[in-house]
Amino acid sequence: MKKKVLITAGPTFEPIDPVRFIGNRSTGKMGLEIVLEALKKNFEVKAIVGPNALSWPIHNSNLEYIKVETAQEMFEEASKWIDWYEIGIFAAAVADYRVKEISNQKIKKNDSELTITLVKNPDILAHFGRNKRDNQILIGFALETENEIKNAQNKLVNKNLNAIVLNSLNDEGAGFQRSTNKITMIYPENRIEVYDLKSKDQVAEDILNAILKQD
Ligand code: C5P
Repeated sequence: MKKKVLITAGPTFEPIDPVRFIGNRSTGKMGLEIVLEALKKNFEVKAIVGPNALSWPIHNSNLEYIKVETAQEMFEEASKWIDWYEIGIFAAAVADYRVKEISNQKIKKNDSELTITLVKNPDILAHFGRNKRDNQILIGFALETENEIKNAQNKLVNKNLNAIVLNSLNDEGAGFQRSTNKITMIYPENRIEVYDLKSKDQVAEDILNAILKQD
């Protein structure tokens, strides 16, 4: 039986009005490389992907690709499928907040100040962590700028994960809009694996090999 892996990737865009949105700098590249590596390993892959300019391998019989825009849509899509997947890799850079009241019309620049109220988005991964099946493996990503290991360890526990892939913005060559990444894998019981700076396809291979070792 093929292993089934659900992967979230890319940013989410949270609309302000018909023209504007709140987004972030994620390109979806790390997620795309994980999808490609999972296909190479002959996994059955469901990719739930936010807006990005990458050309995804949409035509592969082992891949189901679902395009979403907002965190809410990503949550709803992933919720439909997660129970059927033994591995979940949450590489998406999900917006923490969305606009409370989306304007139907383009907002005019009449005033010198504009206030937009934001409300919290669902934490998709934390929700699935709370409802995790015994044999399910859930992997999160953490992008930290300070107290990296401690913050990532807290996330591992709070979201009930099997591992966290930590990227540090302090590492040269790591993070958004780069073709390389430097990761540290964080596991329960203070187990930590530090990897070298590598191309994102090699990082994807390391991540999947690390996950398979947990299995
Ligand atoms: O708490 P933080 O946003 O740093 O956690 C990052 C991890 O949680 C990533 O794996 C990300 O995909 C996931 N996440 C999510 N839904 C959110 C926020 C984060 O699935 N609303």
